[in-house]
Amino acid sequence: MTVTIVGAQLGDEGKGGVVDLFGDDADVVARYQGGDNAGHTVVVGGDEYKLSLVPSGAVRGKTGVLGNGCVVNPETLFEEIDALRDRGLDPDVRVAERAHVILPYHRVLDGIEEEAKSDSDLDAGTTGRGIGPTYEDKAGRRGVRVGDLLDPDVLRDRLEYVVPQKRALYEDVYGGDAGEAFDVDALFEQYREYGDRIEEEGMAVDAGDYLADRIDGGDDVMLEGAQGTSLDIDHGVYPYVTSSNPTAGYAATGSGLGPTTIGRGEVVGVVKAYLSRVGTGPLPTELTGDDEELADYIREEGGEYGTVTGRPRRVGWLDVPMLRHAARANGFTGVALNHLDVLAGLEEVRVGHAYELDGETVETMPPTTERWGDCEPVLETFDGWPEFDPEAVADEGYDALPEAAREYVEYVEGELGVDVVAVGVGPGREETVVRRNPFDQ
Ligand code: IMP
Repeated sequence: MTVTIVGAQLGDEGKGGVVDLFGDDADVVARYQGGDNAGHTVVVGGDEYKLSLVPSGAVRGKTGVLGNGCVVNPETLFEEIDALRDRGLDPDVRVAERAHVILPYHRVLDGIEEEAKSDSDLDAGTTGRGIGPTYEDKAGRRGVRVGDLLDPDVLRDRLEYVVPQKRALYEDVYGGDAGEAFDVDALFEQYREYGDRIEEEGMAVDAGDYLADRIDGGDDVMLEGAQGTSLDIDHGVYPYVTSSNPTAGYAATGSGLGPTTIGRGEVVGVVKAYLSRVGTGPLPTELTGDDEELADYIREEGGEYGTVTGRPRRVGWLDVPMLRHAARANGFTGVALNHLDVLAGLEEVRVGHAYELDGETVETMPPTTERWGDCEPVLETFDGWPEFDPEAVADEGYDALPEAAREYVEYVEGELGVDVVAVGVGPGREETVVRRNPFDQ
C-alpha cells in the first residue's frame, strides 16, 4: 500500500518527523515534487540529519526515490549522499530518468528574477535553488532530464538548444555578465560526470515501474510531499507559491503510480499547531504589532528558522480555513498535529476559526491571494495547557496529554472531519503520541 504525507499549511509543518515515524513501516520512501528547496530534519538516536533533496527515509535504510515530478540538482544529490556515507550510512537512492535537472543557470535566473520582482512586491521569497526556472523549462519543453545526462549526444543537443537562450535572457534582458553557468562546453562536461556517476551507482530508474514493482512484490511505499498545500502552484496563495504541486493528486503524477493506487492508500496531512511562513505574501493570522513578543516567543520555542535558508519565519495562529481547504484538496484520511509542545505554557491559545470578508463570515480560503489578504481572522480562544514531559506523555498515550491540549486536538478533528492520527510533542520521534499507524490496515 501507499501512505502519502502532505503539508497542510505553508511548509515546515514537521513532515520530516512524520515521514520518519511512519516511514519505519515502509520499504520505500519516494518524493514526487520539488527539489532541494525542501528542508527535512531527522533526528536518529540524538544525531541530527538535515536533508533537502534525498528522501529522509534513506537515513533509516529505506530505498529513497526521487520521482519524475521532482527537479534534481545533482550537485546537492551527491553532496547529501556523500555526507551520509561520511557518517557511516549506506543510502540507497534512485532517481527517475524523467525527472528534470536543475542547472546552474536556473539558480542564477531564480535570484535575478526575484530581485526584479521585488520592486513590485511580487517576489515569492524563493529559496534561490532554481526550482521555478527549472519547472518553467519543463513546461516550455526545453528542460534537461536525468535520462539525458546518461546520453552524451542527447545532452549536448539539449544544451546547445537551451543555453544560448538563457544566456541571451541573462545578458540582454537582465544585463548580467554570463559566465560558466551559461557555457555549453563547461556544462556538458560537468553534467556528463554526474550522468556517469548516476549510471555507475545504478541510480537511474523508471520511477513508476520501479515503485509499482515494489508494491507488487509486497512492499509498502511512503510518498513524501515537500512544501505544503498553500504553497501549491494551483491550490496555494499564488504567486507566493512554489512551482510544483505538493497536493496529493500529484503524488500520482509525480511518481508514476496511478491515482487509484494512491487513493486506495492513506493520505495524511501534517499540521503544525500554529502557523509559520518563510517568504512573502499575506498572512491573516500573523502575530504582529502588540503580538510581536508572542511571535518571538513561539519562534524561539519552535525553532522557527528556515532549514534551507536560515531565515526567521513569520509566525501566526492556526488558520483553520486554510486547513479546511487543504483537507478537501488533498482528501486527507488523517492528520498529524505537530508542535503542540511549543504552545505549552501560554495562558491562552487562539485559532483563526473563520474569516471576516466584506462583512461576511467565510470558512474557507478565497481563491485569490489578494482577497485572502483582505480577510480578517475570526479568532477563537482556547485555554492554554501547562508544560508537560513529552516522552512520558508519548509513552503513556493520548490520555496523558493535558486536558486543554486534548480539547485543541479534538477541535481540529471536528473541523476537518478526520482523526488526528499522531500528535507531535517534541522534536524526537519518541516524542510523538501515536493514535493510529496509517500502514496498519
Ligand atoms: P521556491 O520553491 O524556492 O521557488 O520558493 C517559492 C516559495 O515557496 C517561497 O515562498 C519559499 O519560501 C517557499 N518554500 C519553498 N520550499 C519551502 C519549504 O520547504 N518550506 C517552506 N517554504 C518553502
